Amino acid sequence: MTHGSKPPKIILGIETSCDETAAAVLAEGRMILSSVVASQVDIHAEYGGIVPEIASRKHVEAIYTVVHSALSQAGISLREVSGIAVTQGPGLVGSLVVGLSFAKAAAVSMDLPLTGVNHIHAHLLSVFLGARSIPPFPFIGLVVSGGHTSLYHVRGFLNAELMGQTRDDAAGEAFDKVAKILGLPYPGGPVVSRMAEKGRRDRFSFPRARLPETPFDFSFSGLKTAVLQQVRKMEQRGGQVPVPDICASFQEAVVDVLVEKTVKAALETGVQAVAVAGGVASNIRLRKRMREQAGAEGLLCCFPDKNFCTDNAAMVAFSGYHQLNAGLTIGPDADVYSRLPR
Ligand code: KG4
Ligand code: ZN
Repeated sequence: MTHGSKPPKIILGIETSCDETAAAVLAEGRMILSSVVASQVDIHAEYGGIVPEIASRKHVEAIYTVVHSALSQAGISLREVSGIAVTQGPGLVGSLVVGLSFAKAAAVSMDLPLTGVNHIHAHLLSVFLGARSIPPFPFIGLVVSGGHTSLYHVRGFLNAELMGQTRDDAAGEAFDKVAKILGLPYPGGPVVSRMAEKGRRDRFSFPRARLPETPFDFSFSGLKTAVLQQVRKMEQRGGQVPVPDICASFQEAVVDVLVEKTVKAALETGVQAVAVAGGVASNIRLRKRMREQAGAEGLLCCFPDKNFCTDNAAMVAFSGYHQLNAGLTIGPDADVYSRLPR
């Protein structure tokens, strides 16, 4: 493939790393002309979590229509696209290969440059999409989703250094598991946070894993077990489980740790801003506490528009735009990856 060195004007982004089939069109590196997301959440809710085999099959069914809708909502055809960006990993392999294969076919048939985007980096950069304020480089970026809880020192669009990550469950996964313990539907984050609004945050003192040896790492499995034990104890005594109080006390334990570690990372590195992205970044309590604590330290605190917190392809197109500008392309033999490369 031969491609010019001019910045790509119109990028088609494709995302299929988990259970959302998404496509978006980005113009001039900043205007989102369309962002289409087909969620499978109702299908997986029946099973209480994502079933990988079903996820990949649903991507196969949806991918053509989703890409077609993104192009038509943007008012363009594939001929007008100047580059394609696709999520290459991390994620569910059976899901990733659907998006990557589709993107390869489109790129080869139209002789377009193709770039493979890291899903977590795309979440990090989603803070530049539709946000009220955007962080100046360098900043501390926290990605909190169903699969990841990671802190980055972000020095540029293509320069993010991992400072710490979860040793076990991701923050969103902890919300999902606590919902399951309480008999609430999947995904747990939105429903647990809604319940928490009516509950007492100080009713139960659940553990906060601070991990002094690796202060920027996270651990949420002990917290989840503590919630499980508390609920079982109350059930065995025949009492009613105070679901709103459990939710509020659990949420506060998660938020405490996320806020503390993010602000600490900012103070240690001397940056002026923090940014939070990923599905859990739509949590209202996290937004409030992070804004308060960061503000008290004189730090700017930024969140993406709520539409771009959960999985979407606009963030993939945005990351891809910067990668293509830097000449980072992949060929027709590219593979996907399930975890973050070391
Ligand atoms: O970023 P995302 O769409 O997918 C992954 O890349 O994992 O994040 C989904 C996760 C789920 O675990 C969901 O429960 C959580 O984000 N989530 C929330 C909220 N909304 C979604 N967690 C807490 N509070 C919320 N309001
Ligand atoms: Zn994600």
